[in-house]
Parts: sequence; structure tokens; C-alpha cells
Amino acid sequence: MLQAANEREENTVEISKLRELLNDMSLTEKIGQMVQLRETFYQDDIEHVLTGPAKEMNISPEIIKNAGSILSVDGTEELIRIQKNYMKNQPHHIPLLFMMDVIHGLKTIFPIPLGQAATFEPKLVKRCAEAMAKEASVSGLHVTFAPMADLVRDARWGRVMESAGEDPYLSSRVVEAMVKGIQGDDMSQSYKMSACVKHFAGYGAVTAGREYNSVDIGERALKEYHFPAYKAGIDAGAGMVMTAFHTIDGIPATTNSWLLKDILRDQMKFDGVLISDFGAIQETVVHGYSEDMEDAAQKAISCDVDIDMMTNTYVGHLQKLIENKIIDESCIDECVWRILMLKNKLGLFENPYKDADPEKEKQYLLCSDHRKLARQAAIKSFVLLKNEKNILPLDLKKKIAFIGPYTNSRQMNSSWVLSDDCNTYVTIEDAVREIFDLSRTVFEKGCQLLKNEADLLRNTGIEDIPKELSEEAQKKMCEDAIWAAEESDIVVMSLGEHFMQSGEATSRGVIEIPEVQMELFRAVRKVNKNIVVVLFNGRPLDLREISESAQAILEVWRPGTEGGHAIVDVLTGKESPSGKLPMSFLYSVGQVPVYYNELPTGRPYKEGTLQRFQSKYIDIPNKPLYPFGYGLTYTDFEMSTVEMSGDTLHETGTLLARVMVKNTGKRMGTETIQLYIRDIAASVVRPVKELKGFQKVSLKPGEKKEVVFEIKEEMLQFIRADGTKGSEAGKFKLWIGNSSAGQEETGVDFFLNLSK
Ligand code: GLC
Repeated sequence: MLQAANEREENTVEISKLRELLNDMSLTEKIGQMVQLRETFYQDDIEHVLTGPAKEMNISPEIIKNAGSILSVDGTEELIRIQKNYMKNQPHHIPLLFMMDVIHGLKTIFPIPLGQAATFEPKLVKRCAEAMAKEASVSGLHVTFAPMADLVRDARWGRVMESAGEDPYLSSRVVEAMVKGIQGDDMSQSYKMSACVKHFAGYGAVTAGREYNSVDIGERALKEYHFPAYKAGIDAGAGMVMTAFHTIDGIPATTNSWLLKDILRDQMKFDGVLISDFGAIQETVVHGYSEDMEDAAQKAISCDVDIDMMTNTYVGHLQKLIENKIIDESCIDECVWRILMLKNKLGLFENPYKDADPEKEKQYLLCSDHRKLARQAAIKSFVLLKNEKNILPLDLKKKIAFIGPYTNSRQMNSSWVLSDDCNTYVTIEDAVREIFDLSRTVFEKGCQLLKNEADLLRNTGIEDIPKELSEEAQKKMCEDAIWAAEESDIVVMSLGEHFMQSGEATSRGVIEIPEVQMELFRAVRKVNKNIVVVLFNGRPLDLREISESAQAILEVWRPGTEGGHAIVDVLTGKESPSGKLPMSFLYSVGQVPVYYNELPTGRPYKEGTLQRFQSKYIDIPNKPLYPFGYGLTYTDFEMSTVEMSGDTLHETGTLLARVMVKNTGKRMGTETIQLYIRDIAASVVRPVKELKGFQKVSLKPGEKKEVVFEIKEEMLQFIRADGTKGSEAGKFKLWIGNSSAGQEETGVDFFLNLSK
């Protein structure tokens, strides 16, 4: 075992000892560190493994003995057992790294990342990440494959649920908060892990929103919109980055030298571990880029990809590439060095079990503090999209029917929750029964969550699909729901996607609420117009019909373990909604990709004008149904016009932009004040507006508060025509508001003067 390092990092070993270790390792041992295997290789008896997964993957016992990491298993006793056995056989007793997709919770499930972004509260996001890392680390894990930093603009792509939305600034704040929450300042400390920023880079821009499809956007768009969030995660100290499945401009991201060496290593200064996505190195053969697996191994290693996730591309071909002098062993040494450094940063040479502790597992998983935090995060993630006649908060003296497949569903998780227990979730019905007068309350499921869509999901091999009920049973469910609606004053309808309808490999061409639920909605609407829709989904959906005829819509995303409590807290007014949309909600899928920070055109469309030759659709509006940054509260706010401290900003100066915000309603409320700026003319066309800051203010009725934003030159920098990053003198327009929409014609002008 390597001796302890100096006092500064009491949990790590001296670099010189690590160097000695590397120099003492055999080539087989070194290459072993560069493969990640599934847990099954270390769980079943060796005979079964050798005749099963190992045979299938052509992995030798030598490699199993030397592999550097495993993925997708948690549970402290199991991981302690695996580590103990493994280290006995590893020639230098180098510990395994345990990695898993802990995306928005291990046992206590927090809102999905898209919902956490809707809080516009990075500090809260960080706290959720800290709690998530605490549960994962005491369960024996060292690395989580989070945060996903992919910028998204296309709601057809199922992984938008895992992103922080369409804006580079908001995504950057969310990603850095997650990395800091997961890693802290020193990942060797208790309850900290390594984050893994993924998927580098531009995966959110897959063509037509179709999963794993090619990405064909310009270098400037990549650098301007897609790179910032990855960089924010790397600047926050991420210990790992993951490559991506797609091609960029015809070259697979996983073997793309410009992307992985020039950008990631050289420009972004990332010196941590680069892991491939699942099988992505081998898939470069399928892409038609690598001739064969040997070629794939050579191309990936030459791009400094350190770990091959779950294939034998590296372990089956690197040795031969060295023997044939196609690559130098020094390439292997660099990769293994980064892997050993990460293990050292985690303190694994000092303590290979790190925070794994059965007692702490019992103490912290789903503890009351984490549940309270999950409830608070869910409340703040909800976005109130509509609230006609202030039907919300509910009048508890009224007769209320809770109808819909999510009324009593415990599936408030997402497809990325791998080890939760659905019985730990609080449903809406659970929460209602705790506080409502049940003599005036009725619950009816009304319909199944899925009908025809179930077939689509089934053909993707997903098991967890609701069993089809008989026609009679479904008819009875609907009739009971209609009766309940007729007998009630208000109907709360909890509708939405199946949890397996968003996430990886769930691209959808028709992004609507399942039709069987819309049929129920229409049937209920016929007998009761006072409908509040609570929406469970992992992506923006086409909500036109709901938006036209529901009186209120509360977007709750995938709210997690405390979803039921959080929803009832908001429906009853115990808590007020404050979330804002991190992604535009399309009017129709025909608009997609639709996003607020689009570029102007030479023929901009002016609402209401009949000019033929304008940039518009002739059959649908240009605007989304609900814009980025939008969200209602239970009160009203008034905002003064913007006051500027001057009209010229100098390179090293600061301009102040201030507004007075007043709560003119009858209830306490929280508003997210957003700062947008437009560069009116530049060496490349700049977006019609860009989010440059936000501040949340909570005000009592009648209370007012001044909100001040500092405007600095660095906020105005962009990728200029010559490819360099910087600002350009000239005119800018600035808005301060509570959404990205509106005020197009107003805004305040100011100038940037770069002369010394
Ligand atoms: C998946 C995902 C990636 C995940 C990895 C390990 O295919 O693309 O996000 O971390 O495999 O499960």
C-alpha cells in the first residue's frame, strides 16, 4: 500500500510514489486499467463469468484481474466484497473505481436536471448534488456519470430531461453547481465523489432530434452555444469527461482529435480522465470511420481517450499496436497516469473503500433531511404555465376530484433512476389524504397511462409497461372518472408521459400527452370546465389543446421521491410556484428546434403584419406556446423601467442596470428577474437576445426591492469572425424582465467603448 502523502492532502499519496507504481506496472496491467467492465464480471462465480460475459466479450481472466473500473452497481456490502476480492488478485493491489449513473438521486430522488434548472437557483442545485453524492458515496460509489452538459433545443430528443435546457448561461450555472455539489473542493473528503461532465460535445444537437444521429452544425455554433456548459463543469474541477456517440461534421466525437485534443485538452485545459461512452470506441467501426477494432483502438488512444467503456477494443488491440510500433507505450502511460491520479485524488490508495459504510447507508439513504430537500427542490422546480380565474391555489371548501393516471402513481422518477424503490415515493393521493377533507374529495384513475404508445415502448424491449386492461375495464374507469368530475366543483387532472418516454433512446416524433389520456381529458372537460392539469413529463410537449381548455397548468416534470407532497403544497397554496422554463415549450413539433436566443434574419417576422416575404410559417406562429424563462406565480409583480448608471461601458468599467420590483398582489411570491442583452451589430450575427444574469426576489404583498445587475465587458464577449473570443465596440440593447419574451420593441440602448 502506498504511504500517506504530505499533510495537505491527508487522504492521498505522494506523486513520486504514484510514478514508481506506474513504472513498476506490466503492459498488461496498464492496459487493464483502461477498460471498464460491468459488475457481472465480479459478481458471479468465475466459471459462469468465463463461459458467459467474458466469452461474449472475449475478455481474458487476466483482464478481469486487471480492469481499472466497473460500472452500474451500488450497495456498500457488495462493493466492499468486490473491492476486497479484486485487490487480492490485482498485482499491485490497485483499487477499482466504482462508477454509476446517479443523475438526479440514488435512493432519495430529486427533480430531473431539467426541473432543477427550472428553479434558476444554482445554490439549491448544488445542495441536491451534495445530498445525491452523499447517498452514492456511502453506497460505495466513487464516480457518477453526471452532470450532462449537453445544450438542447430539440424536444424530440429524449435526453432533454437530463439537460439544463436551451440556454448556455443557465446551463453553465447548473452544471458547475452540480460538479461542485458532487466533488466539493477535494473529492477525497467524505461524501464526495468525482463528477463526469458529458457528453463531449454537442450531443444535444443530433439531427432531427433522433437519438445517436449525426451532429452537423458549424464550429462557431458549437463554440458559442454548446461548449460553455462543458467548460463550466471543467473549470469547476470535474475529475472526468465522457465522450459522445455521435459524429461531428462527419468524425465520431469519440475519435475526434480536434474536439478531444485541440479543444478539450489544449483549450479547455482538461487534464482529468476521459472515458468513452458505452461502446463508443468500437462503434466508430459501425460509423464507417475506423477500419476495424484495431484501427478504432489506435484512433481513440491517439485522442487521449483513457478508458474504453464496456468493450474489448483497448484490451484486445493496444498490445499489438505497441508491438507493431504503431503507437508508443508512452501513450498508454499517459492514460494510466490520469487514471491513477483520479484514484489518488479520491484517496483510494489510502482507503479503497472510501465512504462505503453499511451503517451510514442506513443512516443517510432517504433520510428526512434529504426528503425535505427533495420536497423543497421539487416545489421550486414546478412551473405554473396557466392560472385562469386564479383557480389555484385550490379552494379547499370546494368539492375536488383528483383524476388521471398520475393521481396515485409512484412513478415520479425518470428512466435514469437505476436503484430507487418506487414504494418510497409520495403520490398525490397520499399527500391529499393527509390534509384534505375527504368527504369533499374523490380519486379516480380514469384511464391507463399508455395505450397505443405501449406498443412503441414494448418494441424497444422495455419491460416496465402497464399491462393492457380489458376494454370493459377501461370503459368503467372512464365512466367513474366522468361521474366524479360531474359531482365536483374542480377537477385536478394528473397527466403525462410514461417515465420511459423520455431519457436515452426515447426520441419521439409526436411529442404530446398519450392519446388515451387526452381522450379522458376531453371527456372530463365536457362535464366540468374547471380543470387544473398537473403535468408529468421529461421534455416540452405540444400542449395546445390542454392550454386552450384547462384553467390551470402546473408543470412538475419528473418530481422525484417527494413529488406528491410538493405538488399538494403548491396546489393548496402552502407554497407558491416560482419555477421558470429552462426550455421553450413548442407550439407545435413543426417549429422544433425552437429556442429564444435565435439569430435575427434579414426579413424578421412582425406579429400581425401581413407582409408576405418574412421569416415565418404560413400555418403556425413563430413563437413557442410558452417561452424560455416564463413562469407564473400566485401573486403579481410590477417592474419599473430600467435605469442605467450611464450609456457607455468602457473595457474595464462597469455599468449598473437597475429595476424596482414590487409585489402588487395579495400573496407572498418569488420572481426570477432576468437580464438579457443583444449585440446590435458585430462581425458575426448575434442572437436577438441572450440571458446574461438572473436574480430571484421573494417579496411580501406590497413589498418592493431594487434589483441591480452589473454589466461588464466580459459579458459581451463572443466568438468573433476571426474565431477568437472577445467583444466588439458598438451598440447594445438590454432588457430586464421575468421571461425571455416581450419587450422586443423596448429595451435600453448602451454602448461599448473599447478605446483606451
Ligand atoms: C449510456 C449513456 C451515458 C451513460 C453511460 C453509462 O449509454 O449515453 O450517458 O453514462 O451509457 O451508463
